[in-house]
Amino acid sequence: MSERLYFRQLLSGRDFATDSLLARQMANFTYVIGDVETREALLVDPAYAPDDLLAFLERESLTLTGIVATHYHADHVGGDLLGIAVPGIAEISDIVDVPIHVQASETIWVTQGTGVRVPPIVAHQPGDVIHVGSIDVTLVHTPGHTEGSQCLSFAGHLVSGDTLFLNGCGRTDLPGSDPHEMYVSLQERLAHLSDETLLYPGHFYSPDPFATLGEVRANNAVLAPRGAEEWLAVFG
Ligand SMILES: [Fe+2]
Repeated sequence: MSERLYFRQLLSGRDFATDSLLARQMANFTYVIGDVETREALLVDPAYAPDDLLAFLERESLTLTGIVATHYHADHVGGDLLGIAVPGIAEISDIVDVPIHVQASETIWVTQGTGVRVPPIVAHQPGDVIHVGSIDVTLVHTPGHTEGSQCLSFAGHLVSGDTLFLNGCGRTDLPGSDPHEMYVSLQERLAHLSDETLLYPGHFYSPDPFATLGEVRANNAVLAPRGAEEWLAVFG
């Protein structure tokens, strides 16, 4: 782990967007990843209340240098959610001009949902690395919940979006979902990460807000099946 890492987990409806019932009900996590010395920072999945999140960065004396979208859903990047207009990357882009890092295969979905185009969206390939100060953030492409879902691997942490929760995983019955790809993402694309890795999910769906990957591997039913056939029979 890097001693230069700045990292915060912010819960929607509690730590920001406190006046939004939707934000409270959806229980999304937004993350801040930065460098404690250079004070540069990335925002991950900044939905609901751009002003609150930018004010948070200002209070922490951090400069926003980029945004990362784990996937296109409105509760992560803004857009229409159950008929409600959720502010997100479009509104932040009107205030600050920073790159928005998205997997190439997710770009069209993000643009469709938010109206934000390339640029400021930067379309990434699997394994691309974003630098925030001295912190390297690797974009791990994990399709399944959506076509271009990505997890962020950095300094012993994994921010997993809606790919992997402490219990369960993201839904695979939505537009862009693919149950078989989800199986491969869970079993193979995240397999290189050590049990000590700290897993930070996209939603507060468990009693604990984070856990080690070792704990999750031991307790999460979606990681138990031994093969794709078994997985698809139970979760597909
Ligand atoms: Fe999602």
